Amino acid sequence: MPAAPHDSAALLSFPQPRACPHQAPPGYAALRDQGALSEVALYDGRAVWLVTGYPEARALLTDPRLSADRTRPGFPVLAPRFRASVARKLPLIAQDPPVHDTHRRLLNPDFSLKHMRAMRPEVQEVVDGFIDRMLAKGPPSDLVEDFAIPVPSLVISRLLGVPYEDHAFFQDATGRLMRATEEGPSQAAGGELAAYLDRLITRLRAERGTGLLGRLAAEDVENGTLSHEELVQIALVLLVAGHETTASMIALGTVALLESPEQLAQLRADPESLPGTVEELLRVLAVTDLAGSRVATEEIEIAGRTIRAGDGVLFSATVANRDPEVHADPDRFDPHRTGRSHLSFGYGIHQCLGQNLARLELELAFRTLFTRIPTLKLAVPAAELPLRGIGTGTIQSADHLPVTW
Ligand code: HEM
Repeated sequence: MPAAPHDSAALLSFPQPRACPHQAPPGYAALRDQGALSEVALYDGRAVWLVTGYPEARALLTDPRLSADRTRPGFPVLAPRFRASVARKLPLIAQDPPVHDTHRRLLNPDFSLKHMRAMRPEVQEVVDGFIDRMLAKGPPSDLVEDFAIPVPSLVISRLLGVPYEDHAFFQDATGRLMRATEEGPSQAAGGELAAYLDRLITRLRAERGTGLLGRLAAEDVENGTLSHEELVQIALVLLVAGHETTASMIALGTVALLESPEQLAQLRADPESLPGTVEELLRVLAVTDLAGSRVATEEIEIAGRTIRAGDGVLFSATVANRDPEVHADPDRFDPHRTGRSHLSFGYGIHQCLGQNLARLELELAFRTLFTRIPTLKLAVPAAELPLRGIGTGTIQSADHLPVTW
């Protein structure tokens, strides 16, 4: 394990808690003031690099001297749960080329823009179905439970070919995996999900099942491109990634829009501004907080600093998305900004596989929610919402979102 670059006691700690569900943690302004690249202290006192400059983040996220392999010595550990093997040996997100690229090529077509356009009516139907249920049940409602989780959950399970009748199990296990702070509970939830997917893929292979997993089982496991075990791990990554992030964006995005009546009025007056609004929500909410975690495999000189082999490097989406050199008046919500210059989906070879799907779900979710329930409002003040992700390096979200209309 490489030595900490400096005395970590003198460093600012990372991550830091949000005070408001849709604003950057107050302490991040001090991190930004330290420059494009600075050292921070993790929960265990280890010092790692935090990249907060937007151009520096893009340069480093495409630099092959940084590895995403979480099993490498020196890989930064944000919270005890990331020590669990289930969080370390993940395909795609925690693998380097060439294996990463092979897996990615197998999956890209299912998440392409073309495929998402074809899925649009189905996603709309899913969104409408959950709104119908909310309206039939009548106010109040917990928007997290009734809408933000079920929409991406049903969509990803259909895309993968995971039976939605098992949703109580996989939604609960996914939540426990992501929300645990300690290694044990995270490992247990991941183990339950892996065992479930192992059985499912065996069945899909025998029955020539449909969906992405059925296809990969029938074609790529049969012809040896993928092992059964690799497909189980890929399924685990896709199921978990397909749930928590989009659910959190729907929940926090709804809070942010309800808290900005002016934005909401503009959106209603000009529905064409919705894609820009979704992009701006992605920029300011940065629900994953980080755009990536890596470990250096060689020395790298950047922004007047030297990253040594074995140093941990974290990329702050929250701060880089507010780089004033790139985003004028960065704390202002402006759906008319041009370009998609945020790092909320990461950058480089690991840039989010599901970003086209997430954009589609978010657009249809917000459009339908605010059109079909025009009087929607928070049932409790935003400041009282039970937040999650506080300082644990997990997805930022609200556990419950009481709304009425
Ligand atoms: C708004 C919702 C989402 C956000 C904010 C988000 C964010 C991210 C980020 C920041 C990364 C880069 C991680 C890194 O470089 O280390 C990433 C990668 C990834 N995301 Fe997403 N994601 C979202 C939705 C989804 C969905 C719906 C899926 C569907 C399965 C998904 C699947 C993945 C996968 C598989 C990777 C790893 C890609 C690779 O390593 O090649 N994400 N995501």
